[in-house]
Amino acid sequence: MSQVRAKISGVQGYVPDYVLTNKELESIVETTDEWITSRTGIKERRILKGEDKGTSVIGIEAVKGLLQKTNTDPADIELLICATTTPDMPFPATANIIANSVGAVNSFSYDIQAACSGFIYALITASQFIETGKYKKVIVVGADKMSSIIDYTDRTTCIIFGDGGGAVLLEPSEDGTGIMDSMLRSDGSGEEFLHMKAGGSRRPATQETIAAREHYVFQEGSAVFKFAVTNMADISFKIMEKNNLTGDDIAWLVPHQANKRIIDATSKRMGIGDQKVMLNIHKYGNTTSGTIPLCLWDYEDKLNKGDNLILAAFGGGFTWGSVYLKWAYDSN
Ligand code: UT7
Repeated sequence: MSQVRAKISGVQGYVPDYVLTNKELESIVETTDEWITSRTGIKERRILKGEDKGTSVIGIEAVKGLLQKTNTDPADIELLICATTTPDMPFPATANIIANSVGAVNSFSYDIQAACSGFIYALITASQFIETGKYKKVIVVGADKMSSIIDYTDRTTCIIFGDGGGAVLLEPSEDGTGIMDSMLRSDGSGEEFLHMKAGGSRRPATQETIAAREHYVFQEGSAVFKFAVTNMADISFKIMEKNNLTGDDIAWLVPHQANKRIIDATSKRMGIGDQKVMLNIHKYGNTTSGTIPLCLWDYEDKLNKGDNLILAAFGGGFTWGSVYLKWAYDSN
């Protein structure tokens, strides 16, 4: 009997309409379009505007589109996992809110939090349910409203992040396509370099925490950069080595979009040319859990059945990892 793998059988993204350009950021903090472009590769990012709109708005739009596009009855969805670092509320899970809104009435749902590696953590978690043979239709969402935890007086972080996300449908595959291998890692000693100081159980919200601006992303950029460059490149190289793949065998690298310089270092280490690297950081910035599904959505029409893809991410935690998959369908 052939091995049951989990395949991505559809992808859909969603980004809010509002475009926050580098030019507009020049009027908010002391920065320049030239600095942001040359240091990160970002030109603009999307912002979810409006009262009472959380990450679920992004997830719901992506999942609705995905169900329609794949002609899937929401009642057939058995599990929905949402990777997010900016849930609508500490509880209930944003996944519950999304599942309820799209009519996934027969599913169970929960969130996974692994910062910028959230989508690949959720993808690999979800794939286990398919590989056991017990589940046939699972949705994985990666979405973040990063603008809700960004300090727009801090030029070192506000230029990087944006809002957006996407969703994929996972189904069983028996034709050799689907998720072939993965390597996931975490190192909690990275906490000091990238975290949100208050708002959790260690430092609940008080007037003091608010006055001290502790409910925003704190990042020691250059320290995180060094860890990200090394670990994202290393793990992507290792998964290729483990699976006897050379740069020529890879159709696409699908990297987390944190900084164009980190992406370039990763593709160089893997021995693959720029033309095989999915890139949309210039349009959306770093959407945390949203970057990888947004890349797959943007490049879907260029993907062919059997293409070898390497997904790679690095984020707060620290968390990082890579996924090797064979794309399961022709989009044209
Ligand atoms: O996705 C999750 C994981 N996160 C990441 O992977 C992010 C990793 N880090 C980075 O991408 C980069 O470190 C940043 C984009 C955050 C910063 O770039 P950098 O090249 O590492 O800059 P830096 O922090 O070393 O700062 C260099 C200089 C400093 O000025 P001085 O001290 O040399 O005078 C900063 O104050 O650039 C200054 N600077 C800015 N200047 C203009 C920092 N931010 C800005 C800015 N505009 N927005």
